[in-house]
Amino acid sequence: MARFVNDPSRTFNEYLLIPRFSGRDCTPANVSLKTPLVKHKVGEAATLNLNVPLASAIMQSVSGDRMAVALAKEGGVSFIFAAQSIADQAAMLARVKDHKAGFVRSDSNIRPDATLADILAMREKTGHSTVAVTQDGTAQGKLVGIVTSRDYRVSRMELDLSVSEFMTPLSDLIVGHDGMTLSAANDMIWDNKLNALPVLDAEGRLTRFVFRKDYDSHKSHPNEVLDANKSYLVGAGINTHDYRERIPALVQAGADILCIDSSEGYTVWQADTIAFVRENYGDSVKIGAGNVVDADGFRYLADAGADFVKVGIGGGSICITREQKGIGRGQASAVIDVAAARDAYAQETGIYVPLCSDGGIVFDYHMTLALAMGADFLMLGRYFARFDESPTPRIHYNGAYVKEYWGEGSNRARNWQRYGTGEESTKQNDKQKLTFEEGVDSYVPYAGSLKENVNTSLAKVRSTMANCGVLDIATLHKEAKLTLVSATSIVEGGAHDVILRNQ
Ligand code: IMP
Repeated sequence: MARFVNDPSRTFNEYLLIPRFSGRDCTPANVSLKTPLVKHKVGEAATLNLNVPLASAIMQSVSGDRMAVALAKEGGVSFIFAAQSIADQAAMLARVKDHKAGFVRSDSNIRPDATLADILAMREKTGHSTVAVTQDGTAQGKLVGIVTSRDYRVSRMELDLSVSEFMTPLSDLIVGHDGMTLSAANDMIWDNKLNALPVLDAEGRLTRFVFRKDYDSHKSHPNEVLDANKSYLVGAGINTHDYRERIPALVQAGADILCIDSSEGYTVWQADTIAFVRENYGDSVKIGAGNVVDADGFRYLADAGADFVKVGIGGGSICITREQKGIGRGQASAVIDVAAARDAYAQETGIYVPLCSDGGIVFDYHMTLALAMGADFLMLGRYFARFDESPTPRIHYNGAYVKEYWGEGSNRARNWQRYGTGEESTKQNDKQKLTFEEGVDSYVPYAGSLKENVNTSLAKVRSTMANCGVLDIATLHKEAKLTLVSATSIVEGGAHDVILRNQ
């Protein structure tokens, strides 16, 4: 006879946290949201950590290179979407890695024989007033000078005047050298009262700029997650079909962590994919697996060697898997069950495998609930799709600004790798074809910048954690006190029995 799990499948909405005693030091400012990204020995630190427990979803409409840089600046990580060619995905990763905190690739470059009119047109286009003058006019060309707005006076100069005649020549410039640290570059800027420091390689080619104005922005991202090279941390989605070709390309492009992107991850193909990584890279390449929704699935992936396990089937905002296939589990029940299995596994083996709760976060407080239920970090799609940094355009729809957001299992994404059976044969049969859809194509309300929204959401998480008497996520796992809510108490939780004034 079939096995029955008799507890109902519950969602985040059905729970609330009960406050616990807060001591004098228990304030939001003292809360740390640092969290492990990969498995590690119990009692030891992980080799990869996030400073805030947020990951952006492995989706075409969410995680491109712009999102990855913005989220890493705030302390989280993006997983660049896998539903694209290997070359395109590797190029996106390389673009993220090309951003070095504080070191900027020059986007305004010109040849010395260009004119003042060209400079003005360029300034109009980029909005930047520092232009590098290089021999060939490229961002990596030999530097011959720079032009800033202090070098020309439009009312007194001819528009066809050659750049070489009014630029500040290299001989009058103070320059930095490749390999210098950001703090050394900033010292040069300060000591010499510069606005921009060009950084050159041994042959005199321009590699980066360091700008005085970025000094403050660097200070305003205290949580940024960087690798040893001061590039932003970035992840990449992979599938269980073309991993033999895709993984080497992504590793080469600089991916810090991989994640198998599958709607249902309790499969032999996931174990095969992890085995490929271990055979070829040992433990030097980190790989998460999923998605699972119960202890059996967790155990299988943990034993297979996953560096983290992703939890959730059918809870995503654009997801219709449960309706289409009748599989899945309420996100809260899934996280609670898998977290118990993770803790048992840690006790038994001495290895702690972080959990990522994927999908179904609607309100900010759901983040705190998911963490309290045992998640180490959260993956969100809808949440991030609303921001400036998502790859889709902002459009006007029914009197409001919206952004497009579509499921990886929708026809629009045509992500046969995520929704195929995982078998090799589908590679030939199903390329570019989905038999049925598991996701919808939608709009989400435009919400502005990532930084502002993430800061507000996490201020709430920190505040709630302080109310719960805890200062870090590991303690929240142990100390949180949760209660189920009744349908009528949900009504009591919103504004009620008042006439709301126009806001
Ligand atoms: P959200 O944060 O609730 O929008 O959920 C995002 C998550 O939904 C992703 O991280 C995926 O796990 C999942 N997902 C993405 N596309 C689809 C789809 O087309 N069908 C089902 N689930 C999807």
